[in-house]
Amino acid sequence: MSQATAAGILGTGSALPDKVITNFDLEKMVDTSDQWITERTGIKERRQAAPCDYTSALCIRAGREALKRAGVEPRELDMIICSTISPDMPLPATAAFIQHGLGARNIWSFDLAAACSGFLFGMTLADQFIRSGRTRYVLVVGAELLSRFLDYQDRSTCVLFGDGVAAGVFGPVSPPAGILATEMHTDGQYAGHLYIPAGGTVRPATCETVKARQHYIKMKGNELFKVAVRSLEDVSRRVLESAGITVDQLDLFIPHQANQRITDAVRERLGLKPDKVFSNIDRIGNTSSASIPLCLDECARSGRLKKGDLVLMSAFGAGVTWGAALMRW
Ligand code: ACO
Repeated sequence: MSQATAAGILGTGSALPDKVITNFDLEKMVDTSDQWITERTGIKERRQAAPCDYTSALCIRAGREALKRAGVEPRELDMIICSTISPDMPLPATAAFIQHGLGARNIWSFDLAAACSGFLFGMTLADQFIRSGRTRYVLVVGAELLSRFLDYQDRSTCVLFGDGVAAGVFGPVSPPAGILATEMHTDGQYAGHLYIPAGGTVRPATCETVKARQHYIKMKGNELFKVAVRSLEDVSRRVLESAGITVDQLDLFIPHQANQRITDAVRERLGLKPDKVFSNIDRIGNTSSASIPLCLDECARSGRLKKGDLVLMSAFGAGVTWGAALMRW
């Protein structure tokens, strides 16, 4: 395969469960209110997968749609990256089920665990592999069924997260289109701020871990809030600078949808006008690694993202991980 001068997204697709959980539904489960959730997070509703749904099944739906819109056949794929912290099962990788389900060749397919930053991590890998000439078409899927790991007795987490999957087919594009700059980070000193205590090698599953509700997401939200705002601003600025692009030149900013107050704070610090920022958190909640591709898919379908537009994406999540990517659509 010959080297490509640029890599970009050729098509997107998504799969959202039908079931909607509103703030009023949550009022019946935990001591919370629509007013608190709306004011503190901007979320009004989120999706929840049916018991018969599972991560790879939604990935295959989203992947098929992305391939169709890209005009790429499953057998033409050279790599599948599934970004998820809510896999089908601990072993094997969810990407193996996606590869088989899509009818792709026996290509390199693997999972990537970087939480909310995962799609951008995957995008960065796809960019490198395509530009080096090692691969031509890469499917990157951001997939989360976080409702399976939520404690519906813990009001500090269960109101925030939702389920959803979205995918992008990456391939060679002609400049000026394509990925212009990316930058990714991890700082494990904050790992204990957002984690699932049991089910791994540190604390394997026992009756006690189940009774102690240690298989659910635990989060120190207010600690993360400060780190998130600072990191998202810094990495967004650096990516713009490395591409020689100013904030005024941006057509669209897609931040990870963690909290509307985080989005507003980052927007203000960057000096962006509100109409340049996309948000669907009111309808979708925080879907971790599916968040950015769900936004991309919605923007691409609605015409909010047009050929030639400059779009900046930035994300922050468990690990902690964070990163940003600048792309000309
Ligand atoms: N309803 C009502 N009250 C609540 C709720 C709720 N759902 N949740 C918390 N409270 C209460 C708390 O108990 C606390 O009460 P107290 O003052 O009596 O102790 C009060 O509200 C304030 O709690 P804080 O946690 O300080 O609330 P905050 O304003 O920080 O909002 C939130 C919490 C929404 C979690 C916010 O901190 C946040 O969004 N943090 C960032 C999350 C993030 O970025 N995560 C990383 C990405 S996710 C991923 O990677 C998977």
